[in-house]
Amino acid sequence: MKSFSHLMRKQTLLPIIQATSVSQGVEIAKAMSAAGINLVEVVLRTEASIDIIKAIKQQLPELKVGAGKVLDANVLKQALDAGSDFIITPAVSSQLLTVLAKCTVPVLPGVSNTADILLAKEFGYQELKLFPASLSGGAPFLKAMGSVFKDISFCPTGGIKQSNQDEYLALSNVFAVGGTWIADAKWVESRQWSKITAACLTAQGIN
Ligand code: 3PG
Repeated sequence: MKSFSHLMRKQTLLPIIQATSVSQGVEIAKAMSAAGINLVEVVLRTEASIDIIKAIKQQLPELKVGAGKVLDANVLKQALDAGSDFIITPAVSSQLLTVLAKCTVPVLPGVSNTADILLAKEFGYQELKLFPASLSGGAPFLKAMGSVFKDISFCPTGGIKQSNQDEYLALSNVFAVGGTWIADAKWVESRQWSKITAACLTAQGIN
């Protein structure tokens, strides 16, 4: 199976879509796509999330779309049935990793400490999400992990913004950063989709 980062291609921003309706979710995805984004995460935090994944798959077939906050076999099944191209979890357990081992799409398990990293490594993962990054030691923690887990690379999410993303991306064991800052709830509420496109461009250093 291909790695998660392979799916991201050269993209170093993992934009996270958090929306309360299908139309809102699709508009956010369109605004991200307009910034050259080819992969987005829909975090399963609202009732509409699974339908948002289905709608993005249908309306923006060129975009890779995956599900975030997958915590158990039921949610995993719903996410896969909706067509998710990848799966992201906020945490790990032996039970969850055992279920995920049968997954045929790339998985990015979420870790927050050294024990989690070791557990995920024992299940064969080399790419992990650090969550919530800013509360789990941030960039200094990831830097320290570079000498302990030399073969593991990370995509931190949680508390990442334009102002601190470079601190993470400068580390050799960070392949991407993720977050919701590029689709601020205020812009979504006021339908300022172009602001999302602009934030995604800025985050990728395009302008
Ligand atoms: C996630 O699901 O990874 C987080 O919600 C992202 O955190 P943020 O909202 O602080 O970007």
